[in-house]
Amino acid sequence: DTMERAVHAASLVKAEYVKEESDTDFENAKADEKKLKKPGEYKRGDTDAYKKGEVSIEEEYTIPSETHNPMELHATIAAWDGDDKLTVYDKSQGPKGTQRELAQCFGLDEKNVRVVVEYVGGAFGSGLRSWPHVPAAVIAAKKVKRPVKLIVTREQMFTTVGYRPHAWQKIGISAGKDGKLTGITHHAVSITSRYEDFGEGIVNVSQFLYDCPNVNTSYRLLPLDVNTPTWMRGPGPATGCFALESALDELSYKLNIDPIELRVINHAVLHPVSKLPWSTKFLKECYVLGKEKIGWQNRPTVPGSVTEDGMLVGYGMAGGVFGAGRGQASAKGILKADGTLTLQSAVSDMGPGTSTAMVTMGAQFMELPANKISFELGDTDLPNGPTQGGSGTTSAIGTAINVVCTALKQTLKEMAIANVPAFANLKPEALKYEQGIISVTENVSINISYTDILKAANKPEIEVVKDSGRATAEAQKYAMNSFSVHFVKLHVHPVTGVIKLKQIVSAADAGKIISENTARSQMVGGAVGGIGMALTEEVNIDNRYGRYTNANFGDYHVPVNADAPPMDVVFVNKADIIISPTGAKGIGEIALVGVAPAIANAVYNATGKRIRNLPITPDKLI
Ligand code: MOS
Repeated sequence: DTMERAVHAASLVKAEYVKEESDTDFENAKADEKKLKKPGEYKRGDTDAYKKGEVSIEEEYTIPSETHNPMELHATIAAWDGDDKLTVYDKSQGPKGTQRELAQCFGLDEKNVRVVVEYVGGAFGSGLRSWPHVPAAVIAAKKVKRPVKLIVTREQMFTTVGYRPHAWQKIGISAGKDGKLTGITHHAVSITSRYEDFGEGIVNVSQFLYDCPNVNTSYRLLPLDVNTPTWMRGPGPATGCFALESALDELSYKLNIDPIELRVINHAVLHPVSKLPWSTKFLKECYVLGKEKIGWQNRPTVPGSVTEDGMLVGYGMAGGVFGAGRGQASAKGILKADGTLTLQSAVSDMGPGTSTAMVTMGAQFMELPANKISFELGDTDLPNGPTQGGSGTTSAIGTAINVVCTALKQTLKEMAIANVPAFANLKPEALKYEQGIISVTENVSINISYTDILKAANKPEIEVVKDSGRATAEAQKYAMNSFSVHFVKLHVHPVTGVIKLKQIVSAADAGKIISENTARSQMVGGAVGGIGMALTEEVNIDNRYGRYTNANFGDYHVPVNADAPPMDVVFVNKADIIISPTGAKGIGEIALVGVAPAIANAVYNATGKRIRNLPITPDKLI
């Protein structure tokens, strides 16, 4: 009944186990082809065309496992009501998903499992599924017949809630002297556990980010005696773009073509795999906006040739991409006679500012001041919301809110006709809704506010529940992605190899920006995650014992304020209404994808040293 007693009691538990051989050595195991699982292959045109290319490179890139480690620890409170009703307060990006998993796990009716999670103190993907501590808390609550609170320790955050998997990649890439790509070959191997296969789209970016006639890719999983990895911000492309965008940079020096120019030369107008046009693609605009802001004209064309205050100066850039689309979500709207509108959906908010964005859109769709609108979230008793992830929350729930607001306006028209004499015998089509007022389109002097309609109908409130629906058939005719381009200026100390970031500019084509402040904040946060990936973050494993040696914040280095330079965010801010009526495409992942290679490319520009295994710590530069 106290934390101290619980910790002491746990220390008294004696575990008996049988020692078995373990294998956590990636390099060693990867060499054995028989250990690799789940072959995934893709090919168009000729295989390994880069080998015959005019100008080519072939290089290997690795990233270590990185942990999400948000400031807030994972934690669960479980409370049983009798044998068949369960309430769980949890750190989860998907209340509905956790509800489903627990219902299955304990053989309960879904409606008897309530999961509550409103605001999450960071998750970055670690809350996209339930981990073993969640059912453990539920089992314990059943055993002790009382509510149980379980907080994962910081050390356990390294071993129980997933991580971005350690990955090896090899890229062969070639171009003609004019810079036109002629071949890309991209192979990847990433680790998974013995008991679950976790894979992500690491090599996919090479298939579609640039126009190239000959592309072949392969992806394999390597099971080791480790816990299961999971999605971590920008899953797939974050790893894949490190290799592809580094390789393109290497190629640009060999071709003597500016790296931005090289990307423009190979800009894909149609999606190279599906051959479909993009719903919207303002990638070229990102190059222009970012290049201007970082001062790209000051970039040394010869690496290591410019110093400022005794420090080597480098500029780098790299692109990021992630899938966009419209997931399914439901929302409820409650319009009250007191003039307020409450919107509800069972989503949680892990920091991007989902509530702010939903209120902003509610205000826009209902043409009401934002201070009249509230958004309620984070409870499985609310209408079905999506798991917050994959940069899809705003377009999914925003669409549901759009449909809800349209229905509310229609209901108001019908109520005016039924209850207000001046509107009697009119058809809803003859009325219009503007800024909370229903009027007769042909004669706007006949009008009434929505609060007066509710009063006339003697109703304290009206409510509707609506679903976003799937993307339209029209949407099937398009490829859909968000794009980003990150620009970096940095200093490297010529003797110690210490890197000091001077400026980061992130330019993004994320569709319409719904909430400027929170969108900017999301981009900045993603870029800081990218700094960690590039320069500091790495779990170290002692292969003799299969244990992490740095499972704490003293030894596992996440970037802090002092590591973050002045950061600028520029949005193209053009609506994509093919994806959804919100116009939004999604920001969360492209905020991080491409940052690490942009930094690695800037380090090369400053020093002439190409670091292909992250993180780029000073010892690798001296
Ligand atoms: Mo994100 S990895 O979809 O939480």
